[in-house]
Amino acid sequence: MIIAVDGPLASGKGTIAKALAQHYGIAHLDTGSLYRATGVAVMDAGADPLDEDAAEAAARSLDLDAIDETRIRTAEAGLIASKVAAQPRVRQALLELQRAFASRPGGAVLDGRDIGTVICPDAPVKIYVTADAEIRARRRWKELEAKGQTISFEDMLAQTLERDARDTQRADSPMRPADDAVLLDTSSLSIDAAVAAAIEIVENRRPA
Ligand code: DC
Repeated sequence: MIIAVDGPLASGKGTIAKALAQHYGIAHLDTGSLYRATGVAVMDAGADPLDEDAAEAAARSLDLDAIDETRIRTAEAGLIASKVAAQPRVRQALLELQRAFASRPGGAVLDGRDIGTVICPDAPVKIYVTADAEIRARRRWKELEAKGQTISFEDMLAQTLERDARDTQRADSPMRPADDAVLLDTSSLSIDAAVAAAIEIVENRRPA
């Protein structure tokens, strides 16, 4: 069973994808971490995130087991990720890795922006998670604050809107719901309620 979970920043897609993987006992891949790690590697190399040669090289030499979770979870890494993610050669470099993960025996849950549309267009279950932009910005702001990172709410909201715009307007694999995705708006849902709603969607969609 492949479950594709897409949606914008802080919509709740990561939490939902993780919970679904645990519920069904299958593997989970947070594909955003690949773009974040690529962006961090480009920065470490002292290159410009918009330099496609450098970004592609970083994506091709990515080691999934060596991703530094602390470094990729900053607001800055998120912004750089959305810049490298707009480059077709970076997306191409990460495509096979994601498809290989999805086709593991037993299935997998992948969350990202283009899982249902590009990476796993034949996935039997596709969920597109959304929430109001201000609510998403506030969630991410609280998360970063709890980790001791200082960013104002106004800056977080501006970054949220900037990343949404870049992710939806890029030419290659823009963020959008697949035609056969079920929409799940988490604006007014608790985490438990959102996970329960997602499980219900899977139960209604999964192959017999
Ligand atoms: O989900 P996230 O915030 O960790 O993602 C970081 C950036 O990576 C996001 O702004 C766009 C990009 N991304 C993408 O283009 N495609 C994916 N499947 C996942 C993430």
